[in-house]
Amino acid sequence: MLVQGTPTRTIWPVLDQGPRRVAIIDQTRLPHEFVTRELADLADAAEAIAVMRVRGAPLIGATAAYGLALAADRDASDSALAGAANRLIATRPTAVNLRWAVERLLARLDDLPEGRRPEAAWAEAAALCAEDVAQNRAIGAHGLALIRAAGGGRAEPVNILTHCNAGWLATVDWGTALAPIFAAREAGVAVHVWVDETRPRNQGASLTAWELNQAGIPHTVIADNAGGHLMRQGRVDLCIVGTDRTAANGDVANKIGTYLKALAARDNGVPFYVAAPGPSIDFTLADGTAIPIEERDADEVAYIAGLADDGRLLSVRLPPLGSPCANPAFDVTPARLVSGLITERGVCAANREALAHLYPERT
Ligand code: MRU
Repeated sequence: MLVQGTPTRTIWPVLDQGPRRVAIIDQTRLPHEFVTRELADLADAAEAIAVMRVRGAPLIGATAAYGLALAADRDASDSALAGAANRLIATRPTAVNLRWAVERLLARLDDLPEGRRPEAAWAEAAALCAEDVAQNRAIGAHGLALIRAAGGGRAEPVNILTHCNAGWLATVDWGTALAPIFAAREAGVAVHVWVDETRPRNQGASLTAWELNQAGIPHTVIADNAGGHLMRQGRVDLCIVGTDRTAANGDVANKIGTYLKALAARDNGVPFYVAAPGPSIDFTLADGTAIPIEERDADEVAYIAGLADDGRLLSVRLPPLGSPCANPAFDVTPARLVSGLITERGVCAANREALAHLYPERT
């Protein structure tokens, strides 16, 4: 996607004269500063995932793949790669793309002699990233048909509500939930996006709003509590969200607060779609009850960061000192509340049979 007119991805290898490195956009600095950062080794990659310089299930997977490639440049022995894999997998528990990417890289390297592993690791990480981009483009095309249907051929913009950031910043490019919105812009279909701010880390207010601003797509940031009210007023035509892990039966883990939006959508007859690329679907889990839910630092709830009017970036505390906070980072929306899953292979019902039909090789 474009950043101030320049085509940009969220992650790319730096292959100059020096040791191989990986560049990322440091998402902790957005939306007020656009800063890139280089990852020089496994520790840098693990840190970037853990503190959410990179985030979003597909991008976490891509960063882990390059993290393993960085590790292989230092030591490509079986034991070193196994240690690197464990370290990366431990960074964040909910997004299944992390384990998927690490296991894919390990499987690719397994049979190779040590000397050939580094090149193969970098090539596999690049291939994984290229596939992510292609998958998201396909999700965009399939989701565009849903947007057109929700608009019913009228000229006014289609109002789409989204939660968290499942845009291009959450992937290598194009995004998952936002891919149909970018496709609509390309196709000349008018849309307006309701952007949930998405407490506590505010990925909606900071990242989704930034992306839509860059793309010139009409949008409005709303408090997380506003969505149900807007649906009751008939001001939301459909919801599209992403997923960090979808179980084999179509239960969807996504950023905390997604479940409440799905409930409100069901009560108001608003279609609720989940953009789910294949690597985010976990066929090993029968349903969503077994999805590990990340508990993050309570300070993410207690403190809020932003730009003061005098230009300073500030972090301020909200609750009184002494009030404990809790920070479950994801929730699970039961499949019965999901109108459909938008995958790179097409839109399907959120159930075991439909998913197995689309991905026969994985069941
Ligand atoms: O905690 P984050 O920012 O890594 O959250 C993950 C997400 O980006 C969202 O849950 C998103 O909706 C699904 S990943 C495309």
